[in-house]
Amino acid sequence: MASRHQGEDWAGDRGAKWLRDLDVMEAMLAPVGEALLAQAALAPGERVVDIGCGGGPTSRRAADAVGADGLVLGLDISPALVAEAARRAEGVAQLAFRLGDAGRETPPEAPFDRLISRFGVMFFPDPPQAFRHLASLLRPGGRMDLAVWADPRRNPWMMEMRAAIGAHVELPSPEPLAPGPFQLADPDYLDSLLQGAGFQAVERRLVEMPLLLAGPGASPAETARFASRAFAIGELLDAADEGVKAAALADLEALYTRHQTAEGVAMPAAFWLVRAAL
Ligand SMILES: C[S@@+](CC[C@H](N)C(=O)[O-])C[C@H]1O[C@@H](n2cnc3c(N)ncnc32)[C@H](O)[C@@H]1O
Repeated sequence: MASRHQGEDWAGDRGAKWLRDLDVMEAMLAPVGEALLAQAALAPGERVVDIGCGGGPTSRRAADAVGADGLVLGLDISPALVAEAARRAEGVAQLAFRLGDAGRETPPEAPFDRLISRFGVMFFPDPPQAFRHLASLLRPGGRMDLAVWADPRRNPWMMEMRAAIGAHVELPSPEPLAPGPFQLADPDYLDSLLQGAGFQAVERRLVEMPLLLAGPGASPAETARFASRAFAIGELLDAADEGVKAAALADLEALYTRHQTAEGVAMPAAFWLVRAAL
């Protein structure tokens, strides 16, 4: 069942931290979900699996799209997030959640017509094996729609946060293919991974948009506190002494003050919307 992944302990601490800031995370990522679901264009009656569903916002939207004759299964490795997703979905008959490692386990509801994921497929320790397994969850002709982060250099929201924190604590060197948000950022790697797993007609579209970092209306100070506790990079501050933490928070707040807008703190972000079929 759920396993611990190096640096990305979603079955444990990372999942618990995502849950702690669930509403803010979901508000920040809502436009990505809109773009993904618009591309996926799910139809009534379809059977859908949402990989790495987290607290289930995309699964809930998908359940609306497939209606009472369809089925949506949210699959996630974090017990805390699966429990919360199930609680939030109570009463929607066509929506269910399961705990499991999507890179290895086959839920009894398989095969599916459709597979969707908003930022839930970049954490597998062995992506070629995991994507072959994801393909096996789909029926022949089934389709997959994914949102995955693009190159960090196109994501100043992450790079500038990293730089602000890195001015105060030592940062680990980035490992591009290690499990983590940017594991699938390289388009050549992504294409070869999908083709190696048997997907045909792989299409990728780069979407660039500003994201409201701590959701609509958050102040620079709130955004700094959110960034330092909600993202893995902020964990580097946990072991720092109080003076270092305060200085890093002040730099984050200064950064977010430069990006303050009438809607909240908005910074440029970029992700791939991927479509592939078997
Ligand atoms: C960045 S969060 C995205 C959550 C959700 N899709 C959303 O957009 O709100 C990544 C999610 O992938 C899940 N995850 C990571 N590795 C997984 C695996 N091997 N199998 C299933 N879920 C996994 C995590 O527990 C987490 O909920």
